[in-house]
Amino acid sequence: MRLSGGSVASIRFRWSAVSTLLILLTLVLAACGTAATPAPAQEPAAAQPTATSAPEAEPTATAQPEAEPTATAQPEAEPTAIAEEETMAFTGDPDAGSYIATLTGGCGCHFNRDLGGMAGGNKFEGPFGVVYARNITPDMETGIGGLSENDLVSLLRTGAGPGGWQLFPVMPYRAFSVLSDKEALDVAAYLHSLDAISNAVPDRELTSDPAPFTPDVAPPAEAPTDPVARGAELVTIARCGACHTPNNEDGSPNMDLMLAGATVRDSTSANITPDEETGIGAWTVEEIAALMRTGTRPDGSQVEDAMAQQIERRFNTLTEPDALAIAAYLKSIPPVSHNPFQ
Ligand code: HEC
Repeated sequence: MRLSGGSVASIRFRWSAVSTLLILLTLVLAACGTAATPAPAQEPAAAQPTATSAPEAEPTATAQPEAEPTATAQPEAEPTAIAEEETMAFTGDPDAGSYIATLTGGCGCHFNRDLGGMAGGNKFEGPFGVVYARNITPDMETGIGGLSENDLVSLLRTGAGPGGWQLFPVMPYRAFSVLSDKEALDVAAYLHSLDAISNAVPDRELTSDPAPFTPDVAPPAEAPTDPVARGAELVTIARCGACHTPNNEDGSPNMDLMLAGATVRDSTSANITPDEETGIGAWTVEEIAALMRTGTRPDGSQVEDAMAQQIERRFNTLTEPDALAIAAYLKSIPPVSHNPFQ
C-alpha cells in the first residue's frame, strides 16, 4: 500500500487504511465546514479541497461503544479476544463528540452523498497529489472499525496513525490539536457510534510523505473554562481564519491581518477584529454571541453568503456559553484597521 510503502504486513496495511480514513475525516471536519459549496474557506495547508457538500453531523446515534459480539460466542476466546475488547473500549461521550464534530464542520468532507453517511471517497487534489476522504464509519474492513480510541485521538490531533503512518494535512489535525483529551475522546466515541457503511476508498497518491506533526503546546486534559481561552480554542477548531484571515502568496495565513477580513474565491468575509471603524469593535460581547448563533447583526440585518451557511450548518448549535466565549476571544485580539470590502 502506497503509504507505508511496499507491501506491508496485513495488520499494518489495515491500520494504514484506517489512518487514511481518519485523516480524511479530520480534514473533512476542518475543511468541510469551510469548503462547503460556495464557501470560500481555505485551510492554509496547501490546497483547498473542493468538497462537494457538507451536511452536518448526523443525528448522533447514541453509540453502542461495544466491542464485537463475537467475543462472547467464542468458546474460551483466546487471549487476543480480551485484548481486543480492552483496546476497543470507548470512554468518550458520543453526544459531546457530535457537538464538537459539528462545530469543526461536521466531518462534511467525508460525507458520501450516494451512501448517505461518512463513508468517504471525496477526492482532494493539489500540487501535493491526490487524497480521498476516508471512510470514517466504524466498518471493520473499509472504515475505522479496527481503530482504538487512542488511535483515533492521535489521528485527530496529530495525524499520526498506527505504525508510523502520517495523514496529509488536508485533514485539519493542526487545528484539532488544540482539542482537550476529553473532547478528542468524545469525537472518537462519536465516530465509533456511527452506523458502519462498507465503502472501500482508493489509496492516496502523494508526491512526498507528509512530515510528522507535533503541536507546540500539549493539549489540556479538559477544555479551558476561561472564556477567552475557550473562545480561542473554538475559533481554532472552527477555523474561522480560513475565511476571515487573508493568505500570503505562498498560501500561509497573513498573521498581520489575523481575522481582519479576506476575499476567498468570490466571497468577502468581514473584519472581525475589535477595530471600531472597520471591525466589530463597537459590538458588545452579547451582540457578537447573538450573531454567531442567529446571523443577526446589532442593527437587525442578517449576514449572508458563506457566513449564513456556516451558521445554518454548524454555529447555530453553539451553546450560549460557547458563543459568548467566541465573542470574548474576538474582543481580546489586536484590532486591525482593514476594510476587506475595498
Ligand atoms: C466559510 C467561510 C467562513 C467561515 C468558516 C467563518 N466565516 Fe464569519 N463570515 C464569512 C463571511 C463571508 C462573512 C460576511 C457575510 C456578509 O457579508 O453578510 C462573515 C461574517 C462574520 C461576522 C459578521 C461581521 C460583520 O461585520 O457583519 C462575524 C462576527 C463572523 N463572521 C465571525 C466568524 C467566526 C467567529 C467564525 C468562526 C467560529 C467565522 N466567522 C467563520 C465567512 C466565514
